[in-house]
Amino acid sequence: MPADGSQFDFTPAVEAATAGTWDKVKRQVTPIEWRLHAPLIAEINRLKAEKGAVILAHNYMTPEIFHGVGDFVGDSLALAKEAAKSKAKIIVQAGVHFMAETSKILSPDKTILIPDLLAGCSLASSITGADVRLIKQRYPGVPVVTYVNTTADVKAETDICCTSANAVQVVEEAARMWGTDRVILIPDEFLARNVARQTHIKIIAWQGRCEVHERFTAEDILDLKAAYPGAEVLAHPECPAEVLEVADFAGSTAAMNDYVIQRKPKQVVLITECSMADNVAADAPDTEFVRPCNLCPHMKRISLENIYEALLYDRYEVTVDEDIAERARLAVQRMIDLPPPAIPARYDLVKARHHVDVELI
Ligand code: 13P
Ligand code: SF4
Repeated sequence: MPADGSQFDFTPAVEAATAGTWDKVKRQVTPIEWRLHAPLIAEINRLKAEKGAVILAHNYMTPEIFHGVGDFVGDSLALAKEAAKSKAKIIVQAGVHFMAETSKILSPDKTILIPDLLAGCSLASSITGADVRLIKQRYPGVPVVTYVNTTADVKAETDICCTSANAVQVVEEAARMWGTDRVILIPDEFLARNVARQTHIKIIAWQGRCEVHERFTAEDILDLKAAYPGAEVLAHPECPAEVLEVADFAGSTAAMNDYVIQRKPKQVVLITECSMADNVAADAPDTEFVRPCNLCPHMKRISLENIYEALLYDRYEVTVDEDIAERARLAVQRMIDLPPPAIPARYDLVKARHHVDVELI
């Protein structure tokens, strides 16, 4: 018999145990799909309790994972903070490999599992620790701020990490701490360009790209605005700067979620990964979502089936060499110790302040 969960039936007990989740996701998931998902959700939740495990699920997980089995859900910053303080013995990272490494760096005594070791990231694979050592030789004394979407090797060469939620704050803090007016912000070129428009610190950037967000164009947004004149357009800062210029708001996945939940727009477009809108929509029944989106092939490697197998077989364990972890921890911890980022301002107001370019390495 396969041990991938297909042996479990949709019994009345399963139906009762998962009724709350079904109520949330029934506008995103069909009843036929639900009969397959629900038994696995019930079994995963049972196994978690038995093993003392928690699941940290990123906002890009599909709704049955996000709402069905995620114990803590959120953006990269929230998940890193949760990994640092969690009391669980085992963390299953429902996200991509760099997120599991970040959890291991922050919680070296815990077992960190990722359901698929191939869940990578185009940003993380755009740069190596050796590249960062060369950059530091070229720009001595300039602090290195690294996006968390990087390998542990890269974080070990970093002064302080950032996420899309706090990048401006971290860049300004790095300049203050190191007493400079220049900061290296790697590896996402577009995040760097978008940060450069919101600060007077000079930014040195690398040409990494998120393969999901780089595909959106300003023309896509203008076409959407013409087709849906009442829709508010929210875009992730990994998009090109010209996309953010014509969007109504830019922010991390958590900031987009907060925008919809708090401001309750009648119609909204989320310019980001496809599952994001499904997950927010479950909590925002009065908002209509227009859904142009791009799939992240790495995030989509994670499924209920491989989460179940991860818990059943304790696989696949993510480890980080202790020497690398120790150096990387300093950079991640410096970020975590900062106060929470300010509520994002409307991007068009920020943009009006100034318009500067970055220095590309
Ligand atoms: P945030 O959730 O931090 O906004 O990041 C988006 C992303 O692309 C993660 O891989
Ligand atoms: Fe990486 Fe982009 Fe996928 Fe996030 S969405 S994991 S940044 S490729």
